[in-house]
Amino acid sequence: MATRITNKKLSKSSRAWMKEHIDDHYVKLAQRDGYRARAAYKLLEINEKLQLIKKGMTVVDLGSAPGSWSQVAGKLVGDTGKLIASDILPMDTLENVTFIQGDFREQAVFDNIMAEVADKKVEVVLSDMAPNTSGFSAVDQPRMIYLCELAMDFAEQVLPEGGTLVIKVFQGEGSDALRKNMQQRFSKVRSIKPAASRARSKEMYWIATK
Ligand SMILES: C[S@@+](CC[C@H](N)C(=O)[O-])C[C@H]1O[C@@H](n2cnc3c(N)ncnc32)[C@H](O)[C@@H]1O
Repeated sequence: MATRITNKKLSKSSRAWMKEHIDDHYVKLAQRDGYRARAAYKLLEINEKLQLIKKGMTVVDLGSAPGSWSQVAGKLVGDTGKLIASDILPMDTLENVTFIQGDFREQAVFDNIMAEVADKKVEVVLSDMAPNTSGFSAVDQPRMIYLCELAMDFAEQVLPEGGTLVIKVFQGEGSDALRKNMQQRFSKVRSIKPAASRARSKEMYWIATK
C-alpha cells in the first residue's frame, strides 16, 4: 500500500511499524513494480511454483482490496479471461476486473458473485481475506476461521474437479480442524509460506485441488 508521510507525531509502536514498512524489501519492490500492496509477491510466488492461473481462465478473488492480487491475477488471465474480485472495502477500478463490494458473510454478496460468474467455469478461487485484527487471538482467530470456512464452501460449490482454491489461513486454534475438513472435501491440500509473508506472521497459504 502507498505510504503517506504526515507531520503528525506517531506513537513509538507506529514509528517502529512505519520504519519496518519503509525498509521492507517487498514494499520497495511493490512501489517499483506498481503493485498496490506487497502481498502481490505472495501470489506471484505461489503461481510461479504451481502454475495455477493461466490465460483465458475465470478466477474469483475474495478479500481483494486494495487490489494487488487482482493486478497479478487480472494480468495472468488476460482479456480473454475473467477476474471477479470482492471485498467489504471499496477498491479502485482495474482493467479487466469486475469488482463486487460487500461483506462475504452475507448471502447477498455470495449471490452477486454467483450472478457475475453466470455460466462461466471458475477454475481458481483465491481468498486472501482476513478480518480486522484486534490483537486478541481469542477474538481474531475464530473470525478468520469463519471466513476460511465460507471461502472453502464457496470454492467447493463453484470449482469443477481439478479446480484450485488458494486460501490464507492463520495457524492456531481451529486451523487443524479446518485442514482436516478441507482434506475431506478436496483431493489434495498443500501449504506454502511465501517469502513475502513475514516470518513472525502466523499466516500460511493452503492450496487445495478439488
Ligand atoms: C490482506 S487484505 C487482502 C489484500 C489483497 N489480496 C491484495 O493483494 O491487495 C485482506 C482483505 O480481506 C477483506 N475482508 C475482511 N473481512 C471481509 C469480509 N467479511 N468480506 C469481504 N472481505 C473481507 C479486508 O477488507 C481486506 O481488504
